[in-house]
Amino acid sequence: MAEKIESIRNELNDSTVSNQEELEKFRLRYIGRKNVIADLFGEMKSVAPEERKGFGQKVNELKQLAQTKFQEHITNLEPTDDSQDKSVDLTLPSASDSFGSIHPLTATKQRFIEIFERIGFNVSSGPEIEDDWHNFTALNFPENHPAREMQDTFFIEKDPDVALRTHTSSVQVRVMEQQEPPIRTLSPGRVFRNEAISARAHCIFHQMEGLYVDKGVSFADLKQTLYHFAREMYSKNTEVRFRPSYFPFTEPSAEIDISCQICHGEGCNICKHTGWVEIGGSGMVDPNVLKNCGIDPEVYSGFAFGMGIERITMLKHQITDLRLFTENDIRFLKQFSTL
Ligand code: DAH
Repeated sequence: MAEKIESIRNELNDSTVSNQEELEKFRLRYIGRKNVIADLFGEMKSVAPEERKGFGQKVNELKQLAQTKFQEHITNLEPTDDSQDKSVDLTLPSASDSFGSIHPLTATKQRFIEIFERIGFNVSSGPEIEDDWHNFTALNFPENHPAREMQDTFFIEKDPDVALRTHTSSVQVRVMEQQEPPIRTLSPGRVFRNEAISARAHCIFHQMEGLYVDKGVSFADLKQTLYHFAREMYSKNTEVRFRPSYFPFTEPSAEIDISCQICHGEGCNICKHTGWVEIGGSGMVDPNVLKNCGIDPEVYSGFAFGMGIERITMLKHQITDLRLFTENDIRFLKQFSTL
């Protein structure tokens, strides 16, 4: 009997536990309901009466030792303070769910539409892969216009030409071919040009096209509409300037400039110290274009404009590098989450 006690004591003293499974084995053998030490108590009756007290004491000591070892093993299995610091910091706030945010270009597009919807414009769209007629010919581009050349346009097929649209003006043609005036429409979308990517240019960008065709539409309507737009998009004291220009599909044509939203006229790099920044092109729809689309220019007239959504957004938020819009850096995008 004494040998049995001795051997269990040695077992306990030599025991090691390196994982939860071994800990459970230890518990079952020495502590659980039917453990080897409890068995020894069962054998008490076969011990000579005068030795029972001493025997009982020894078995009790063994039981105590098993408890102590068990606690020791539990403590050894727990991670040390050091590793606990690295793995879990209970003082940190819980990780919150992230719902993403509206892309700044989308926010500008939505605001644009909101402003024009209130003055009776709807939204129209056309394909990004366009034929020569809708992208160029119907818009009065002469046969040898440089914009048709390979350096500007991504052609998909030649003769007949199919290309990635170079502007959203192609949607004007599609709308006028399908609808009778009065037409008041906005056409947002992606456009493609063969340009090197830099802080100011990208081969894919976004435009917002506007078209108003009805009886008696004049340049005064164009100006007043764009004044209204600029003041709604930016601020009440934003100024608008029309600079004479040329586009094949408008006559007369004008570039639209607004007072610089970054320096407010003081002069900065963005406005090249002029106090004015260009946001797009505009003009009265050329009678040839109306005719090409089946609208009688003797009865109807219209204005059109096309603006860069990137440019409008950059001015709104003082963003100075176009590439930020496509880098998808969450630190940049997160700043617009409340828009
Ligand atoms: N399509 C022109 C461009 O991409 C912009 C433009 C100018 C659109 C005048 C118009 C307009 O509708 O009337 O450069």
